Amino acid sequence: MKRKVIHLVAGARPNFMKIAPLYHVLRKRGWCEPVLVHTGQHYDYAMSQTFFEDLDIPEPDIYLDAGSGSHAQQTAKIMLRYEEACRKSAPDLVVVPGDVNSTLACSVTAKKMLYPVAHLEAGLRSNDMTMPEEINRRVTDSICDILWTPSGDADENLLREGIAEDRIQLVGNIMIDSLLTLERNGSISAEAVPQELASSPFGLVTLHRPSNVDDPAKLEKLVHVLLEAAAEAPLVFPVHPRTAKQLERQGLRRLLEMNTNVFLVPPLGYNAFVGMLKQACFVITDSGGLQEETTYLGIPCLTLRGNTERPVTVSLGTNRLVSADSLADHLAQALAGSIRGEVPPLWDGKTALRIAARLETYFGVTDA
Ligand code: UD1
Repeated sequence: MKRKVIHLVAGARPNFMKIAPLYHVLRKRGWCEPVLVHTGQHYDYAMSQTFFEDLDIPEPDIYLDAGSGSHAQQTAKIMLRYEEACRKSAPDLVVVPGDVNSTLACSVTAKKMLYPVAHLEAGLRSNDMTMPEEINRRVTDSICDILWTPSGDADENLLREGIAEDRIQLVGNIMIDSLLTLERNGSISAEAVPQELASSPFGLVTLHRPSNVDDPAKLEKLVHVLLEAAAEAPLVFPVHPRTAKQLERQGLRRLLEMNTNVFLVPPLGYNAFVGMLKQACFVITDSGGLQEETTYLGIPCLTLRGNTERPVTVSLGTNRLVSADSLADHLAQALAGSIRGEVPPLWDGKTALRIAARLETYFGVTDA
């Protein structure tokens, strides 16, 4: 049998840890040829290349070099370039992870060229159509042939939208595969933890959602709330490029830098970030993936959003949705040790293996 060509698409930071476990599992199977496609949506060393090194995945086979721009510009550039790449490489299946612009651009392009597409991390819904990610998720799920979901609530969302049951496969959370691989390999690194905090409890902060950082009044309020939180415990804040630009534009970066309990650091690679996360006693964030990682690790997570597409992290896990006004109360609970949770089913590090088994059935592989 000719080896099946499987495109694994990644574009932005949270995609790399979803694609890596699948790449490592598929690479060992003789029936397929995993092809890494990097759209270039994220391109800085700290936002992209460092993840390839930390996750032990090789240089991409196809690099689309799309870069930044408005949503339309970025999406259009990825579509044009991916169409060209598909003409040359003719995949037997395209796998798109997550909910970023690259996910939407590549799924629509491939599907219109009649290539089968699988969505990895399907079915998540915030029901907030002001989030670009929600639009990306809904469009992608509505057209994909295979929908790999991380938790039962995602299956329910898809069924409620009228998606046929035979397209949905509950496989578990693939981010946890990456997290466990890092633990197993002993490659978690504490190098980025500021020396002053080596033996003291601290909180880890990440913020990058346009709804929090692109609105000047909101960002200013959040900075003041963080300064108040820093009076309770030191904060380490790896600053995303989008947030860095806005903080500087508003002269807010200096306010944070002047506080001796706030440590601003550049965006971190995966090994260093997980190393910092494992030492943190709480997290303040608006990230999606971090809500899941904290639930797995049992670390209280205060999510500065009005909704989440990952409700299982609240119902079972350690995640709490907070506002600028309610953060202080939730932080007190976190510091008092009253936020606890459990790990959702199938967040066990075996998701890539389950996907590979599903693909063998899909392609009728008998000699894997
Ligand atoms: C994107 C995703 C978001 C994800 C986030 C993780 C979409 C719609 N959004 O948001 O879901 O949570 O990635 O980071 O796909 N920039 C750099 N270097 C880079 C990349 C970006 O400096 O390597 C700067 C650019 O100026 C760019 C800005 O950051 O304009 C934002 O990047 P962009 O890819 O548009 O969106 P993110 O906010 O990163």
